[in-house]
Amino acid sequence: MIELAYKIAKQLTLHLLPRSTTSTPTGSAITKHQTPTTLQFTITLSLIPLTMFLLKTWRSTAFGLYGYLNFTKSSFLEHSKKFKAEDMQIKIEGKNCIVTGANSGIGYATAEGLASRGATVYMVCRSKERGEAALSEIQLATGNKNVYLEVCDLSSLRDIKALGSRLSEKDIPVHVLVNNAGVLEHNRTTTSEGYELNFAVNVLGTYTMTESLLPLLEKAAPDSRVITVSSGGMYAVPLTNDMQFNDGKFTGTEQYSRNKRVQVALTEKWSEMYGQKGIGFYSMHPGWAETPGVAKSLPGFAKSFEGKLRTREEGADTVIWLALQPKEKLVPGAFYFDRAEAPKHLLSTVTGSHSAIDSMLEELRSMSGISS
Ligand SMILES: NC(=O)c1ccc[n+]([C@@H]2O[C@H](COP(=O)([O-])OP(=O)(O)OC[C@H]3O[C@@H](n4cnc5c(N)ncnc54)[C@H](OP(=O)(O)O)[C@@H]3O)[C@@H](O)[C@H]2O)c1
Repeated sequence: MIELAYKIAKQLTLHLLPRSTTSTPTGSAITKHQTPTTLQFTITLSLIPLTMFLLKTWRSTAFGLYGYLNFTKSSFLEHSKKFKAEDMQIKIEGKNCIVTGANSGIGYATAEGLASRGATVYMVCRSKERGEAALSEIQLATGNKNVYLEVCDLSSLRDIKALGSRLSEKDIPVHVLVNNAGVLEHNRTTTSEGYELNFAVNVLGTYTMTESLLPLLEKAAPDSRVITVSSGGMYAVPLTNDMQFNDGKFTGTEQYSRNKRVQVALTEKWSEMYGQKGIGFYSMHPGWAETPGVAKSLPGFAKSFEGKLRTREEGADTVIWLALQPKEKLVPGAFYFDRAEAPKHLLSTVTGSHSAIDSMLEELRSMSGISS
């Protein structure tokens, strides 16, 4: 694929390059043709940016097409023909589950689904008001009183560490941690602790939350697991070291996709690091579901896919499935979609590997101050 892109780029460049050129101060080239009245401008395209552009376009096109064919409500209904009803008829009374971003969308449906199966659920929400409202609804709908609220802003390391200490004091085994909270902020904003906001919640928050809870997850081993809600959007990007998007023109959607790619790579790495302690690590993506987050961050997309998006329950289906299945059935470190293992790369020859995760992990350790 790279070879093909390179050939196309080379062809284009040859066609665009003039026979004799004069450089401008900006680096573009001007061709003077023989007719005295005509002056034709030609821009010289360098091969590397053009190849990068073609790869990026190719990845985005592949993701868009793949998503359209697989991520909508109709594909969920199609895929669900293979689902086994008994997979979800499992009670998990006495198990402690923590769900972040549990007051809304997929997180709400996950918390409700786990509570309806008897789990003790800790809902981690940044707003006390929204959290309490969701908690009452879930208690009412499920009849389960063992649902608790923990207020925590996951863009703040200070808040996450405080939550970690509160939960450690309870000294409870944590059977399931669902890293669901996520954000897509289009403008580049920085948290009070100095981190780019999307990164702070989606990557640093997920990392710090998981690492802080390792001792409690170990207490529930070998029955404990961490499920991280990523996004199909990660198919559009490779793993990049520039976690806070310091280089190049910032776009929120690309930063979100990059963050979601890091979550998948982190899950793989965690599984390698802590799998032997009896903790399972899985990432997944929910497809395209109608949620307040999508309506707010991607209004154009929500409008064009009106009536075609999954419900929040359909989006949460694989999260709950992953929480309920016996671990022997699951592949450590794998990426799941619609109750089945899914590829981590659509075009593996182009998107590369996750080998950069080791140095990224070092950076996350140093930012969070948590070393494991
Ligand atoms: N819906 C989809 O089609 C889709 C597709 C791919 C991936 N996902 C992923 O699914 C997950 C859930 O998204 P959703 O669609 O259900 O969106 P949502 O309705 O906006 O839910 C996101 C949740 O995360 C919480 N959250 C955001 N920032 C937070 C912070 N700083 N601290 C604590 N909580 C925070 C939100 O709280 P507030 O209510 O207070 O904002 C909300 O509860 C996300 O990780 C998202 O990336 C969704």
